[in-house]
Amino acid sequence: MNILILGSGGREHALAWAIGQNPKCDRLICAPGNAGIAEVADCLPLDIMDADAVVALARAEAVDFVVIGPEAPLAAGLADALRGAGILTFGPSAAAAQLESSKSFTKEVCDASGAPTAAWARFESAAPALAHVRKQGAPIVIKADGLAAGKGVVVAMTLAEAEAAVEEMFAGGFGEAGASVVIEDFMDGEEASLFVLTDGRDVLALAGAQDHKRAYDGDEGPNTGGMGAYSPAPVLDDALVEQCLNTIIRPTIAEMARRGAPFQGVLFAGLMIKNGVARLIEYNVRFGDPECQVLMARLGGQILDVLLACAEGALGQAQLNWADDHAVTVVMAARGYPGAYRKGEVIGGLDSANALPGVQVFHAGTARDGNKVVASGGRVLNVTARADSLQAARDRAYEAVALIDWPGGFYRSDICHRALG
Ligand code: AMP
Ligand code: GLY
Repeated sequence: MNILILGSGGREHALAWAIGQNPKCDRLICAPGNAGIAEVADCLPLDIMDADAVVALARAEAVDFVVIGPEAPLAAGLADALRGAGILTFGPSAAAAQLESSKSFTKEVCDASGAPTAAWARFESAAPALAHVRKQGAPIVIKADGLAAGKGVVVAMTLAEAEAAVEEMFAGGFGEAGASVVIEDFMDGEEASLFVLTDGRDVLALAGAQDHKRAYDGDEGPNTGGMGAYSPAPVLDDALVEQCLNTIIRPTIAEMARRGAPFQGVLFAGLMIKNGVARLIEYNVRFGDPECQVLMARLGGQILDVLLACAEGALGQAQLNWADDHAVTVVMAARGYPGAYRKGEVIGGLDSANALPGVQVFHAGTARDGNKVVASGGRVLNVTARADSLQAARDRAYEAVALIDWPGGFYRSDICHRALG
């Protein structure tokens, strides 16, 4: 079959690398893609926020199956448009994607389904929100209700920070996303992410993963899209996964179906774990980036069969074979990220890094300049290694990082510190 992957990051490179290994995949197209994806798929230019253009390209290229990577086109209804045009698609409808695009929607679904999460309230103006934070005190968490590219959350450790966050959001600091603000209780514990596939009725747990959100070693510095990940996450053992499926995931899927907005796609549950109990921090409606890279490194080509089963409503019969393996990805970012950074610097050593056993360097912000690969984004490479133990995977990933010649890049040297100390 002809398969189209939409997106241009490390997540989409990992998906393309894995899907392309499945014998069912005859032709793999990625739009718009990047320099690394171009080595495993035909990359075509496309504005993936333009649903008409996506449908037209899928028809012109005789695409049988579309996999949507990022959240923005999902929230804008791209999966609805593709399915409306009769094209088999992996990814939730706009109505179901509200689990990521509206924090208050998710909170309402949690309340209706009994899924454990932090107590919350929603505000449309500053004065009652300020009164609420003064009554509750710090620590407290202030969130722009809408999509804010991962930046609309302030975990305020003092009342002054909480007040400043409320003022900033209602002053338009997060644009439309902050017109409505959710304020919730602070939860402490250890964070982990659980990825679950669903066809709207049945669920198939993938695996746990842990991200590293801060830019620098020791979880210091500004928040980023994620600087590295590993899977499995030791904190999410089988019993805890089963608990999450029973208390959080299945009740959510059932509530979405009850509302007439069945969720088909991958549900990414951000969890806070304390004393053996998991509570939901938030949902995302797509694979995490860089968490996807470690999941795909472990799953390989079989991912296509289960993505198809989701889209066809046949997940009940689907199965995955997990090896007893571990994967680690180290993000290399342009110096300055998540602030201003330079583009266009040549990156060397990619072939040597990829030649190490178990290593795949997934590209995020890269482009081709003649026969050279150059940095063209903030997060640029995801150096990913798979091995029999977490320690071996981590060591191999850093061995590969050391072979990459890119003076303008930086990376964290402590990926896996929570699991390995
Ligand atoms: P979110 O975008 O909702 O995942 O929030 C971003 C980050 O803020 C999370 O990964 C957590 O580290 C933190 N966070 C969000 N909500 C809470 C909460 N209620 N208590 C503690 N930390 C939170
Ligand atoms: N790495 C976190 C995310 O994809 O949202």
